[in-house]
Amino acid sequence: MILVTGGAGFIGANFIHTWFKHSDEPVINLDKLTYAGNLANLTAFREDPRHFFVRGDIGDREQVAALLAQHQPRAIVHFAAESHVDRSIFGPGAFIQTNVVGTFNLLEITRDYWSRLPETASESPNKQDFRFLHVSTDEVYGTLKPEDHPFRETNPHQPNSPYAASKAASDHLVRAWHHTYGLPVLTTNCSNNYGPYQFPEKLIPLVIHNALAGKPLPIYGDGMQVRDWLHVEDHCLAIMRVLEAGRTGETYNIGGWNEKPNLDVVRTICAVLDRERPRPDGRDYVEQMTFVQDRPGHDRRYAIDAGKIERELGWRPEETFESGIVKTARWYLDHAAWVADVTSGAYRQWVEQQYGTHGE
Ligand code: NAD
Ligand code: TYD
Repeated sequence: MILVTGGAGFIGANFIHTWFKHSDEPVINLDKLTYAGNLANLTAFREDPRHFFVRGDIGDREQVAALLAQHQPRAIVHFAAESHVDRSIFGPGAFIQTNVVGTFNLLEITRDYWSRLPETASESPNKQDFRFLHVSTDEVYGTLKPEDHPFRETNPHQPNSPYAASKAASDHLVRAWHHTYGLPVLTTNCSNNYGPYQFPEKLIPLVIHNALAGKPLPIYGDGMQVRDWLHVEDHCLAIMRVLEAGRTGETYNIGGWNEKPNLDVVRTICAVLDRERPRPDGRDYVEQMTFVQDRPGHDRRYAIDAGKIERELGWRPEETFESGIVKTARWYLDHAAWVADVTSGAYRQWVEQQYGTHGE
């Protein structure tokens, strides 16, 4: 049994899909179901006894402690977070609350649970084999100049956005809980993910959604900011590999060796849509590109040196950007109902009917 936090979000849900492709070990999924968490990402497991969903907040100590005591997981994979940079600029409070205070709560409850586990390796779960895997981002490292080497695990943390600062703070807490209390932790810092079930506020799903809706495709500033893109399934496989074989106390950078300026990403998506779902007026989707005011403090370039995880754990990405982006565009074309659902108020109403407002 493992506990996943944030398993109804984009990467967490993909992780659960990937996990059950490779394992029958049950998963408890603790998720607050914020705007970004959606049980429609997990309909495949609605009746599946291996998946046990619990709505709750990682900041709720009593609930998390009770879950751990009841289910006795052998590992925790911590995805739950506020994750969108633009939202963090307009409302940083939720980011501090969930990413920093929430992670602190989770660490404290986990430490208490772990300290009571049996020492003996013959029992499961046990103190020695327990693992807390913290899922983080390359944005903690700050920004790169064109001539800089991609981020290594040894780069200093120099976060620039409220989101990045809150994730850097959580990385530091996780590190300290290992050094001070001996909690067996692992941290992964990954580049920009794309793929199915991503809420259409991040660049790739937003562009697909707006293109099809005939809306402008907003390009911040000059559009020459560079991101490293990784297909979400590759990220999930990397997390499984780190959970299985990573050395506790270590951090592992995960990336696609796939740097692209935003303008290239948007043009590629437009070209794919021109082929797969031509505009009714026969014109090109790139005509919808609209340069807008830049994001304040916008990081110019992220890039990951994923050499350590490849050397030590034998992981490397399988999907190329060219094939991954076509698959992703097709997924969104085939799942118009999912997009309509998560972007409308109907799903939120259903969550409230089902679970109440849960302090929101
Ligand atoms: P997301 O916003 O799609 O999902 C976050 C999930 O966490 C949602 O299901 C939400 O309901 C849940 N959640 C939020 N606050 C919670 C709380 N207080 N208690 C319990 N659940 C809560 O995010 P994502 O893109 O899937 O990212 C998952 C993790 O991966 C985050 O920690 C993020 O920092 C990290 N990450 C993301 C990317 C990326 O490109 N998306 C890249 C690297 C790392
Ligand atoms: P985003 O998907 O928000 O991820 P992050 O900011 O975490 O890297 O944005 C990816 C890049 O695309 C980033 O440089 C900001 C830019 N961007 C736009 O140009 N227009 C948009 O509408 C969005 C959402 C992002």
